[in-house]
Amino acid sequence: MGYRFTLDDVDFLRSRHGSKALSTAGELDLSSSSMLGDVGQLRRRYPPYDGALIETILCRRRARTKLAAAQDMLFTDDALQQATASAVAHHRAAEIGDRFPGAVVHDLTCSIGAELVELSACPDLAGVIGSDIDAVRLSMARHNTSLGGRVPTLLRADALAPVSTADVVIADPARRSGSGRVFRLDQLTPPLLDMLSTWAGRPLVVKCAPGLDYRVLRDRYGFSGQVQITSLDGAVREACLWTERDGEPRRRATVLRTRPNATVGSYEVTDDIDDDVTVGEAGEWIVDPDGAVVRAGLVRQYAATHGLWQLDAQIAYLTGDSVPEGERGFRVIETTGVAERELRRRLSTLDCGTLEILVRGLDVDPDALRKRVKPRGSRSLSLVLTRIGRKGVGFICEPGVRF
Ligand SMILES: C[S@@+](CC[C@H](N)C(=O)[O-])C[C@H]1O[C@@H](n2cnc3c(N)ncnc32)[C@H](O)[C@@H]1O
Repeated sequence: MGYRFTLDDVDFLRSRHGSKALSTAGELDLSSSSMLGDVGQLRRRYPPYDGALIETILCRRRARTKLAAAQDMLFTDDALQQATASAVAHHRAAEIGDRFPGAVVHDLTCSIGAELVELSACPDLAGVIGSDIDAVRLSMARHNTSLGGRVPTLLRADALAPVSTADVVIADPARRSGSGRVFRLDQLTPPLLDMLSTWAGRPLVVKCAPGLDYRVLRDRYGFSGQVQITSLDGAVREACLWTERDGEPRRRATVLRTRPNATVGSYEVTDDIDDDVTVGEAGEWIVDPDGAVVRAGLVRQYAATHGLWQLDAQIAYLTGDSVPEGERGFRVIETTGVAERELRRRLSTLDCGTLEILVRGLDVDPDALRKRVKPRGSRSLSLVLTRIGRKGVGFICEPGVRF
């Protein structure tokens, strides 16, 4: 939950005095051992803003890998968790600019402005509007979007009131309650279906959590636009709905890579690619496609693009005699059954010490299995467990290598 900021806190943090106080607080350790002393010092010098200062510095430190301008931004803890990572927001802004050149874009749930910053920096857009129902977040957005580039128009508004005539509308509804990946559509705030009807007739781009059941949205609610699943550096980040994609693929996986050691950049897979792939015996390598490709149901299209084939028509592991550039491949040493005794024996014969276990299609807890097979040797290996038809199969492999 974190510290509850007030508008007065944000006004202080944005003032010259507040900015100096933030520099002072930023030099403190703020670790568990120093916290008591650090709080005392800030309380003496900057009452009653010590809580706001500490929370801001801790958020800035946590935000470093997520948001490009983290060091100067203002957040609440929740808003930081909900914020779109800069790399993903940048990609979306560029795509909106590319698709709707000269458009005015309105972010209906702008929060602290992580998306607005990237939209405002997009040279292809004519204007950017941001609104949110939460006055504190909006005030933080005012600060965050003033740090560089064009400044958007900001206003406090309910996303279900059609307050602007912007050409394109984007939104990122929050989850009202509950944790975990699975949630119901009516747990979103503002509710997704209400937003779709309020803004019907205008291109609408809605970012949702990756756990969104987009098939329900299509089958039960007739959503006919495009679903884009995006991953960033291997982690699936979101499912994004695009209402206006006439003649374009209905499903799309966007794989974004920003890590310096990523050997290739980003790529996309779409459902209009030919998905004619065979099912067959394992080749030299097992390939585990990116989570965005799997979640978007585009494993076959990905396999066809790279000359891979499936081990089983229902399972996302692929196989082939080479590994696509930038992907992780597992070179097969031998194929086994999945009984623990057999696995223990084979792994021991191969002198297995460190064991990575990957599972698809079987009810196996990798950590529990690793403890039970007790590898004690000196060699690092990977074990890929899956099913082919109804039969469990294990592939003992050399450790995964990224190409
Ligand atoms: C997930 S956050 C958006 C994060 C934002 N895209 C970013 O990257 O920083 C959802 C936001 O929706 C706002 N919100 C919730 N209900 C709303 C409504 N009815 N109208 C406008 N904003 C609303 C919340 O205050 C919250 O800031």
